[in-house]
Amino acid sequence: MNTGCGFQTKQRYRFGWFSMKLKLVGGDSAGVVTAYYMCSENGAGPTRDEIDFEFLGNRTGQPYLVQTNVYKNGTGNREMRHMLWFDPTEDYHTYSILWNNHQLVFFVDRVPIRVFKNNEKPNNFFPNEKPMYLFSSVWNADEWATRGGLEKTNWKLAPFVSSYKDFSVDACQWEDPYPKCVSTTTKNWWDQYGSWHLSGDQKMDYAWVQRNLVIYDYCNDSERFPTLPEECSLSPWE
Ligand SMILES: *[C@@H]1O[C@H](CO)[C@@H](O)[C@H](O)[C@H]1NC(C)=O
Repeated sequence: MNTGCGFQTKQRYRFGWFSMKLKLVGGDSAGVVTAYYMCSENGAGPTRDEIDFEFLGNRTGQPYLVQTNVYKNGTGNREMRHMLWFDPTEDYHTYSILWNNHQLVFFVDRVPIRVFKNNEKPNNFFPNEKPMYLFSSVWNADEWATRGGLEKTNWKLAPFVSSYKDFSVDACQWEDPYPKCVSTTTKNWWDQYGSWHLSGDQKMDYAWVQRNLVIYDYCNDSERFPTLPEECSLSPWE
């Protein structure tokens, strides 16, 4: 069965701070994925850039996992999976993306859970050229989402509802022609030196997440990647 729903911004943005409060499908949500993501296109085209938060539902009482991923020019395969330190179905929590030309940071309640660095050289992994819309959707992914697809969606429990509030975007709205969003003298905090790397407090939080909550990191998966992708050698600390 295939069903779902979602929404998207009218505007595209290139770099900024994107934040929303979400309360995820509760109870038996196995197979149900709530996606909250940015994408350069309306569909899943072969050259899209994308920045994903995906919340993987689970059977009642079993923990949600948060999967994040980054695509450039249609290539993803950069999954990480984290546990959360709270039940995301009980209440609203804030999920944010900081995106500039130096780093992409995924935040949960202002705690940086993932840092994806640019090396400021020509590269094929850091999405920094294409403006993106922000989307969210709820869909059936019981082929893979929960325990690798073993746990199927229980359709008797439909509808599956995720709730949203307080969307906030502080970002460069894309307008052609292109150079509009590239100014280096911009006053935007999210494009300033202080946002090019984690602060001292953020590093402590990030280290705690790394120690306690990471379930999967593609950069540690040498079976899947005998040669690790280029960005895996960039330090998240700098
Ligand atoms: C769902 O719960 C099971 C059992 O606790 C756990 O192994 C799994 O990682 C959880 N999440 C997903 C997305 O499978």
